[in-house]
Amino acid sequence: MNKKRILTGDRPTGPLHLGHYVGSLKQRVDLQHEYETFVLIADIQALTDNFEDPDKVNRNVLEVALDYLAVGIDPKVATMCVQSAIPEIAELTVLYLNLVTEGRLKQNPTLKNEIREKGFAKSLPVGFLTYPISQAADITAFQANLVPVGEDQLPMIEQTRDIVKKFNALYGKTLVEPEAFLSKFPRLPGTDGKEKMGKSLGNVINISDPADVVLKKVMQMYTDPTRKRATDPGHVKGNPVFTYLDAFNPYTRDVEELKRKYEEGKIGDVAVKEALAEVLNKFLDPLRARRETYAENPKSVMKILKQGTEYAREVAHETVSAVKTAMKIKYW
Ligand code: TRP
Repeated sequence: MNKKRILTGDRPTGPLHLGHYVGSLKQRVDLQHEYETFVLIADIQALTDNFEDPDKVNRNVLEVALDYLAVGIDPKVATMCVQSAIPEIAELTVLYLNLVTEGRLKQNPTLKNEIREKGFAKSLPVGFLTYPISQAADITAFQANLVPVGEDQLPMIEQTRDIVKKFNALYGKTLVEPEAFLSKFPRLPGTDGKEKMGKSLGNVINISDPADVVLKKVMQMYTDPTRKRATDPGHVKGNPVFTYLDAFNPYTRDVEELKRKYEEGKIGDVAVKEALAEVLNKFLDPLRARRETYAENPKSVMKILKQGTEYAREVAHETVSAVKTAMKIKYW
């Protein structure tokens, strides 16, 4: 029996960070043997809000590929591929445009936020407005069953499901209805205590950060603003240092002990942060080693992407054929 499929992707606009890891990368690595996994470097989507800076997108294709390899995506079992080199995705996007209304797109909360943040409110590029349709093409091109994503991507999966339902109702059952797969930690807060870790917010710890940078960022982290001295009882809830410990220290008993001491005013912020920096660096060390090995030979990484993309195209081609047949535009 064929394995069920997973598709996820990232925009290559900068290094991937621990928020990406917790929200989606970890799940991809954990599930890559159980599901046939496709990991898409979404460079066309990256251009929808970076069309003035193609160098940035170009540079980050390799960086994101290195991050994937660093976290343990295994190119022997998972397919890493590049969106722009799979024209079948662009073709599906065009074919889906008819199935989506402008009103529906503009209601998408993730898109709405981004339009505000990126200053697109006054003059909205159509490419950006329609990127959720292109993302539906990413997912359906591979007939993915499962899409591991962070919470902020849920509206994109909903949009995809709407398109699939409408397509199947109009033209006959052709497309797989995908489901989002949320992680236990759908959202990692920023080092500044803000709800979300985000590149544009400047509150991230990158997967590729060296140990001294991680230490420095952790020592500057937001903790419990009500606590003046180490002997004051501290708050663990809403304290990102403890959220990170929960997410990255596999020894939960050690974390519980630290929490207890913190709440009793028996340990200072500095000591807890030092403990966290050690935990994070221990977690990141093997990732750094893998990244370095691949980074020494960027050509081999580009070859992995090329081979993955070739296979991805074959799969996407089958979907396009089925879609065109269903839409009665396949003549020979
Ligand atoms: N929109 C996603 C992000 O900004 C990236 C992405 C592109 C994606 N295509 C995808 C995610 C398909 C899941 C499935 O992070």
